[in-house]
Amino acid sequence: MRKKIVAGNWKMNMNLDEGHELVAGILKGLPALNNDKIVVIAPPFINIQHSYYQVEDTDHVYIAAQNCSTENSGAYTGEVAASMIKHAGASYVIIGHSERREYFNETDAILSKKTDTALDNGLKVIFCCGESLEVRDAGTQNEYVEAQLKAGLFHLHKHQLANIVVAYEPIWAIGTGRTATSQQAQDMHAHIRSVFAAQYGQNIADDLTILYGGSCKPSNAAELFACADVDGGLIGGASLKASEFLGIIEAMMHA
Ligand code: 13P
Repeated sequence: MRKKIVAGNWKMNMNLDEGHELVAGILKGLPALNNDKIVVIAPPFINIQHSYYQVEDTDHVYIAAQNCSTENSGAYTGEVAASMIKHAGASYVIIGHSERREYFNETDAILSKKTDTALDNGLKVIFCCGESLEVRDAGTQNEYVEAQLKAGLFHLHKHQLANIVVAYEPIWAIGTGRTATSQQAQDMHAHIRSVFAAQYGQNIADDLTILYGGSCKPSNAAELFACADVDGGLIGGASLKASEFLGIIEAMMHA
């Protein structure tokens, strides 16, 4: 059975003190998670080690980075290596978020290399995909997302797919308050799963966790997570308040 995951992407929010408070608040209200229902928290790089020390004794709560370098080490001022992220306590790294693709010009080739570097260094990858409003309006979102996945992930070997989570985040739903309908999410998630089935076989596709992201909140999480192919969420704004994040985790527990 594939895992269900609620992951909080803090983006560029929370200093060390604020992050400490937030993690403490989440831990305080956390339901009993298990191997199949887990929580991931992705703070800024500078908080990773501190957040890890806070969660290390809590089962099934993991830390993620929001990005990593394509390179393993060396003269790359300002970059953070996957090995450093792993050493600081993170288990996951988010790769290919639309904000990185758009504002930092991360191309498919860069994201494919980052995925390799992350996996080589023992991190699991939350690989993001998703179309703009323009693409959605043109009705070509399936082809668009498929192309992103092929370019970023389909060079991987079958055995590596166990360390990949896909997050579908339609750009028009990120931070806009405009959530995809559960039908739109289900349709795309089913499409993504079929694309993996065609490439890697049905068993691998059935085991792949596919998260939805984009204005997910406690009030709509239950409906989204009830969809057959929606295995949880990648949460932005609502992950910055313990009560809201916990409300979304609750929705996963009952899904
Ligand atoms: P919001 O939940 O704020 O829409 O952000 C989604 C997201 O980009 C998570 O990575």
